[in-house]
Amino acid sequence: MYRLLFSLVLCRFDAESVHHLTVRALTLLARLPYLKKVVHRLMAPHDPALRVSAFGVHFPSPFGLAAGFDKDAACAEALSAIGFGHVEVGTVTAHAQPGNPRPRLFRVATQRAIINRMGFNNRGAAAAAARLRRTRGVPTVVGVNIGKTKVVPEHAAVDDYVTSAKELAPLADYLVVNVSSPNTPGLRNLQAVELLRPLLEAVKQVADATPRRTPLLVKIAPDLADEDIDAVADLALELRLDGIIATNTTIRHPGETGGLSGRPLKTRSVAVLRRLRARVGDRLTLVSVGGVENADDVWERLLAGATLVQGYTGMIYGGPLWAYRLHRDLSRRLVRHGIPAITDVIGRTAP
Ligand SMILES: Cc1cc2nc3c(=O)[nH]c(=O)nc-3n(C[C@H](O)[C@H](O)[C@H](O)COP(=O)(O)O)c2cc1C
Repeated sequence: MYRLLFSLVLCRFDAESVHHLTVRALTLLARLPYLKKVVHRLMAPHDPALRVSAFGVHFPSPFGLAAGFDKDAACAEALSAIGFGHVEVGTVTAHAQPGNPRPRLFRVATQRAIINRMGFNNRGAAAAAARLRRTRGVPTVVGVNIGKTKVVPEHAAVDDYVTSAKELAPLADYLVVNVSSPNTPGLRNLQAVELLRPLLEAVKQVADATPRRTPLLVKIAPDLADEDIDAVADLALELRLDGIIATNTTIRHPGETGGLSGRPLKTRSVAVLRRLRARVGDRLTLVSVGGVENADDVWERLLAGATLVQGYTGMIYGGPLWAYRLHRDLSRRLVRHGIPAITDVIGRTAP
């Protein structure tokens, strides 16, 4: 049904306009407490066998929505209601900014992929904090992903991230330092350990100072060389971070300028996960993202050592029932294999 709607109607409209319409519909749902609860009862994962815990946070399932969809924390509860086990909002920057000029979001439907050069369009940390402060009507695990404001020069990046962290860490179930989006000039340079160390140290101080000690993760690019992945992993261990999210979009592709996501990213994303797992074992929580389309993909990432898995592009092609279906299939798979809990799958085939 959604496939038909997509190929006959949605793909005729500009991708970003469809996105804004979807966010508006979900924001409306987020404001309707009764309907939101009904949808949550019908679509959210309730199978106890799917529950996982990571860095002290309880998740109803290992699968959630990756950063970039709900940039302003406008509809996290509605996204939880339609089935995502957690919602990573953002990327939020300290100051509001418009992002790059449109068009900046392109479908590559033949490959079930997307190219985007959004450039962190968002209303800024204070506005996101105000949204997050509103009471939650349905249980929602919310991660907050923070990035650098475009006009802030690289040498002032640490203060910029710290401003966002101070606003948002107290309101987040976990906090993510994003140094891997390709559409903010210079951002990915911050992945170099000599720049990353002071950045993570400063943000960690803020995260550690919240009443609950907010867990802190770093999100990395798939285009890092293998030795650089190891270096970030070692740094994350040394600084006692809670986890690593791998991966963001790739710039290694032909076509429009921007980051590529979806099916073509799958192989590299899995390779980065395996490398991280080989390096850190179970000492850090690994969150795998990139090219996840279905329950088979989630299963593969769990086997390879991810505790949490995320997706974004899959929803654009899979539609609003995507997360619901994926969880249904995961539950069936557990039953079929006679495995009592999804946590038993994590790291089973890791080296
Ligand atoms: C339109 C779009 C916007 C994105 N914006 C962000 C962002 O603001 N911050 C971020 O960390 N990742 C962002 N991402 C990357 C996703 O979170 C994810 O890492 C990537 O798309 C790979 O997952 P996928 O193949 O399931 O889409 C964005 C992705 C897309 C498609």
